[in-house]
Amino acid sequence: MEDFKNQIERRRTFAIISHPDAGKTTLTEKFLLYGGAIQTAGSVKGKQTDKHAVSDWMDLEKQRGISITSSVLQFEYDGYCINILDTPGHQDFSEDTYRTLMAADSAVMVIDAAKGIEPQTRKLFKVCAMRDIPIFTFINKMDREARDPFDLLDELEHEFGIGTYAMNWPIGCGQNFKGVYDREARAVLSFGDSHRGRERIHGVDCDISDTEKLDAMIGERLRKELTEQVELLDGASFDFDLDAVRHGKLSPVFFGSALNNFGVEPFLAAFLKMTTSPLPRKAGDVTVDPFDEKFSAFVFKIQANMNKAHRDRIAFMRIASGKFERGKEYYHVQEDKSFRLSQPQQMMASEREVIDEAYAGDIIGVFDPGIFSIGDTVCEKGQKLKFQGIPVFAPEHFAMVEQVDSMKRKQFAKGMNQIAQEGAIQIFFEPNSGLERVVVGVVGVLQFEVLEYRIKNEYGCDLRRTDLPYQEIRFIKNPDLDPKTLKLSHDTKWVQDFRGKNLLIFTSEWAIRWVLEDNPGLELEEFNRGTEADAQ
Ligand code: G4P
Repeated sequence: MEDFKNQIERRRTFAIISHPDAGKTTLTEKFLLYGGAIQTAGSVKGKQTDKHAVSDWMDLEKQRGISITSSVLQFEYDGYCINILDTPGHQDFSEDTYRTLMAADSAVMVIDAAKGIEPQTRKLFKVCAMRDIPIFTFINKMDREARDPFDLLDELEHEFGIGTYAMNWPIGCGQNFKGVYDREARAVLSFGDSHRGRERIHGVDCDISDTEKLDAMIGERLRKELTEQVELLDGASFDFDLDAVRHGKLSPVFFGSALNNFGVEPFLAAFLKMTTSPLPRKAGDVTVDPFDEKFSAFVFKIQANMNKAHRDRIAFMRIASGKFERGKEYYHVQEDKSFRLSQPQQMMASEREVIDEAYAGDIIGVFDPGIFSIGDTVCEKGQKLKFQGIPVFAPEHFAMVEQVDSMKRKQFAKGMNQIAQEGAIQIFFEPNSGLERVVVGVVGVLQFEVLEYRIKNEYGCDLRRTDLPYQEIRFIKNPDLDPKTLKLSHDTKWVQDFRGKNLLIFTSEWAIRWVLEDNPGLELEEFNRGTEADAQ
């Protein structure tokens, strides 16, 4: 019993969010290095090593040399059992990236110190903010020319509407980067040439009041500047409030350099202390306590076609409570069926391994013969839980997709529906047009290629795709409005979802404003929030 509690208590499940190139992979690599999970930095997926977290899942993945799915890395550090959820960026950005965030209890946000907030950081932050999960900021690449740290904090506060609390403060940047000041210890951790290597190194501590030593370390000018900035910071910034951190209202900010291994381990150590063990989850009116002995989990992602010969899929589940045991019979609520998970898997760097047990906070992947849907609940027999569904995220790219061979109408419709059901694409209809022509919406453009590939290989149909210039989508809120009466320019298109609900798609945020101006009384509703309840 003690062990059971301890196992859950020591778990930390978080996602790393960033814009491509901010340093997410490098930071992850360093985390794994400290945990002893890898021997040398540079062996996590990366351009140089060409090793993907979990490879060979799809031919397409191989052709493109990218990893389509987000993977989970589990490793031990200082008594903690850490699950890092990767959120793929670049071209492989998709709804899965967002869904993965639903399985995390907190997020680490990596920001390039020269660039500040970038578009993908913004998108991912919004999804984290929907759940009020704690967000820890690592401002990376201080060894390069960087923006003013006050500016960076200001940007975070204004753009994201959260408070920030600098845990440490950078001393100079680029060629002049001398280290960081640790506000709690009131000491300077100096950055020297030795850090440019890749081993695990601890910095030199120097108390801020030791002027003489500091002058020798960082120079008088920087020492004076630091003293002024620290005064300013102590006087003007938010107070540290762990409760606010844990509710996603205050983001602790750390400065450092992942590549140079500087400030990363203090960040990890502080972050692990501040973040929480697995959080309770809502299942209707019930709040499921992770420490409840009864196992429960929800499916947050389905990866299709990992082994083409078997056409199998893997359903990724986040364990919400209790302990999972291999071979035990569990209950799939939505199908109302009991079943055994015979080959549960955990993903670790480049290999998958079969596991015998797992605890609340862990992610397991199970072979799925086609029975699971995103958001499904699995629990112990006799329980009837239903976790809150995974929201459907607003597509950001649209295309007209038509079948080419009219003889294959049935296969085409079946394929499109199944793929939509898996949550890989979203389908919309042009009012009064047939089923052989649909508007497909996706979060990441690669999903279009996956769609074409699968419709051809799994359903034997060819399709014609015409990309559309739309980027935004909103529900029409007015229940009695006939969209035919709307004044719409070519920047806007009216579509319906499979329930017949009316939506508008727009080429830009501007187009939304124009439509609202041209059609007084029209009310639009955000897509993300609007469908959250429907997704259950
Ligand atoms: P990502 O996963 O967020 O896309 O970023 P990744 O870690 O791959 O880092 C992107 C680039 O930034 C890499 O350089 C990486 O070495 C570099 N980088 C990461 N952290 C730091 C840092 O603290 N300081 C500096 N100066 N650079 C950093 P690259 O040239 O694109 O690739 P590589 O050949 O170095 O791997």
